[in-house]
Amino acid sequence: MKNKIIDLIEPNVEGLSREDIASLIEIPPKPELGDFAFPCFRLAKTMRKAPQVIAQDICDAIGSVDFLEEIKVQGAYLNFYINKDIFVKSMVESAKAENFGGSDIGDGQTICIDYSSPNVAKNFHVGHLRTTIIGNSLYKIYSKLGYNVVRINHLGDWGTQFGKLIVAYKAWGNEDAVKKDGVAELMRLYVRFHDEAEKNPELNDEARAWFTKMEHGDEEALKIWQWFKDISLIEYKRTYELLGVDFDYYLGESFYRDKTEDVVTRLTNANLLSESEGAKIVNLEDYDMAPCLILKNDGSSIYATRDLAAIFYRKETYKFSKCLYVTGQEQKLHFAQVFKVVELLGNDWARDQLVHIPYGLVSLEGAKLSTRSGNVIYAEDILLEAITKIRAIIEEKNPNIPDKDETAKKIGVGAVIFNDLYNQRIKDVSFKWEKLLNFDGETGPYVQYTYARCASILRKVEDFAPDAAIDYSQITDPEAIDLLKEISRFPKVVIDAAEKYEPSVVARFAVDVAQSFNKFYNACRINVEDKTTRNARVMLVHLTKKTIKDALALLGIDCPEQM
Ligand code: ARG
Repeated sequence: MKNKIIDLIEPNVEGLSREDIASLIEIPPKPELGDFAFPCFRLAKTMRKAPQVIAQDICDAIGSVDFLEEIKVQGAYLNFYINKDIFVKSMVESAKAENFGGSDIGDGQTICIDYSSPNVAKNFHVGHLRTTIIGNSLYKIYSKLGYNVVRINHLGDWGTQFGKLIVAYKAWGNEDAVKKDGVAELMRLYVRFHDEAEKNPELNDEARAWFTKMEHGDEEALKIWQWFKDISLIEYKRTYELLGVDFDYYLGESFYRDKTEDVVTRLTNANLLSESEGAKIVNLEDYDMAPCLILKNDGSSIYATRDLAAIFYRKETYKFSKCLYVTGQEQKLHFAQVFKVVELLGNDWARDQLVHIPYGLVSLEGAKLSTRSGNVIYAEDILLEAITKIRAIIEEKNPNIPDKDETAKKIGVGAVIFNDLYNQRIKDVSFKWEKLLNFDGETGPYVQYTYARCASILRKVEDFAPDAAIDYSQITDPEAIDLLKEISRFPKVVIDAAEKYEPSVVARFAVDVAQSFNKFYNACRINVEDKTTRNARVMLVHLTKKTIKDALALLGIDCPEQM
């Protein structure tokens, strides 16, 4: 419909492309103002007339059109009133399509997403939960738009901390304790190292020596390191399993250890390296940034060096048109420096193809969590606690539904994900169980509940076929039309979310659809006697169910059929 409106406007305006017109067209806030509106302010300059006059001229030039009830000029706006039956038909037909909400705008383009990326031998904490959830959702959103997405877990699995850990393990650890307690035991050893090194600074030299051994491929050192990594991955994968998250590659920092030399060569050849207190840096004064450290004074590479190597590797291997990095905002400077260094090496693409996607903090006020050792909060514990709480609610309210465990998992995990994605990612997220597990309000369970309500209605109607034709003239109630209009926003919502790297756009849309549906449900009886009316209304239930499922899927949330 919007395209048809653009067809009408295009020949009657000067200096605006189809895309310009498309971006100017608005959906009026009130139905009295029509279904689409086109503001003429911008045309005043090129067409040298008052916007009101231009609006009237365009209106006259278009004349009468079969699919429009009327076109009204109101101020500088042209308001289009679409013939209701035609409008309803077009909305229903597009929403019925299998890939509704998707498109092929990304065809032939690759997007790398670097997300999750926990630090080996450290716990998978709530901050990593956010990058994992946001990254996974961006993956789904971009895939829906036809992009080829490469999901990369850039594990923090290299660096001097592993030298410390080896020293600590050899001095105070043992195999059984690590096998039994996993990451928790490794964290205890790490803390112990720092305590002991305060009294006995030589331990630091020992640690450095072990890391140097690792860098030189020492078999014993690498064997212990690999074991720490395997142990950690088993735990991380439990969290990924709960979240339903996957990666195409686990290519951690260690993967780039033989590729940092090339970075140093490139920087040297480009005359970008300078010395500072024995270390090698790239001066970024001209860009108002602290220098980017490349090599420490003992010649070892750091986090940034490995990120530089990873960028060149990814560009070459995946030929990305964008590479996104989802991390906390405290890494803002790090990425700004790294991206600038890539650009200074003569790669103009760095400016718009490398994108840091920061997010806010997680505060755990009110979420009393039993903590494991060391008072740290594990993401896994949060998810498990959400599931347990939901399981108890199900037992109390609806003990007869099938697959109670599976349902509790979908709702509990979904609630945590939704709570994370509902607000703009840069905002801080708070965990309040009563709020995020509430079945009313702007929550995951509320949207899932609406989905289950649709599913239950559909189970009760017989002989309804989603692909059979319906009588569009039966859809007249304002609540029904509002619901359809809400659903119709889906394709635009997905594109918006992708352009802003903002899953919250989809989360809010899911709530809007659920709310519109519930208004419709309260206003209109669905299972009425008259089959024609019933089928038309049931069609809306079907479309709501389908759209909610697809929208929540873009967030990484599953919908239970009953709850
Ligand atoms: N391991 C890092 C952390 O936990 C995140 C890594 C992000 N990705 C990257 N390419 N630097 O903070």
